[in-house]
Amino acid sequence: MDWIGIDRDNGFFGQKPDDMTEAEFARLTKYIKTRYGLDLTGKKSMVESRLINYLMDRGFGSFSEYLRTIYDGGEEEAANLINRLTTNYTYFLREQEHYEHFMNSFLPNMSERIKQGELCIWSAGCSFGNEAYTFAACMEDYFEGRGGSKCDRRILATDISRNALIAAKNGIYGEAAIKALPPHWRAKYFTEKRGLFTVNERLRSQVMFRYHNLMEPISFKKRFDLIVCRNVMIYFDKDTCSRLIRRFYNATNKGGYLYIGHAEAMPQDSLYVREQAAVYRKL
Ligand SMILES: C[S@@+](CC[C@H](N)C(=O)[O-])C[C@H]1O[C@@H](n2cnc3c(N)ncnc32)[C@H](O)[C@@H]1O
Repeated sequence: MDWIGIDRDNGFFGQKPDDMTEAEFARLTKYIKTRYGLDLTGKKSMVESRLINYLMDRGFGSFSEYLRTIYDGGEEEAANLINRLTTNYTYFLREQEHYEHFMNSFLPNMSERIKQGELCIWSAGCSFGNEAYTFAACMEDYFEGRGGSKCDRRILATDISRNALIAAKNGIYGEAAIKALPPHWRAKYFTEKRGLFTVNERLRSQVMFRYHNLMEPISFKKRFDLIVCRNVMIYFDKDTCSRLIRRFYNATNKGGYLYIGHAEAMPQDSLYVREQAAVYRKL
């Protein structure tokens, strides 16, 4: 056992820090909401359970000591914190209705843009990349069935979790993540090795993964024909959602679309027009 209580042979880490105080949690909640939009209200136990092993592992004696490094500007610790506090659950072909709309309505409606040679699609809050790769696979099939296209259709996929972005770029998935995919897609777009499925180069080249915090202004060079932001707003409060939807609206091309999660509500002041459940359009 060494001086901070690490018994490396037995795999025990430092002493368990005391629970976070209510005041510490209130300050952390405010910090996370202001910077990242996530509403942690009522989730103290979840936050503690996601952080405790890390604190012990890194030898922080208390939550206050750990949080001080973050409030003092420790960017690396802040990135680490956000890796732990975000919920990255996702899988291929999640909310299939969107992929049907994409193939049957969105892409046919975009024929002019496609002729012009560019389609701008953004998966905002992409997590491990499953969503962006699924849209890329849809487009491969769509254009293949029409004799190909020179249209630049690379998808921008962004998140605040650096760990999720690394995993997304690696593009390696377990059986559970791809279980909804039809066999011909598995064969066409993945290579299987010892139960792990790696996205092939054809799809990989169609997706660009970047860090972007949805609380910040949207300053990409172009407007989007489709913004997909699903199962992200469920973690935000009403005002944060309203402001985000306004930013999305300004970043959408006229005639472009927004897909949100089916469990999410569109803010009442939104200027998008509802086309069907979880599908909105800027007219
Ligand atoms: C539950 S996942 C949803 C993934 C995918 N869109 C889907 O529907 O399967 C939510 C993702 O939103 C990301 N996220 C949360 N707050 C964010 C923010 N402020 N900016 C960017 N991404 C954020 C999280 O890191 C997480 O990967």
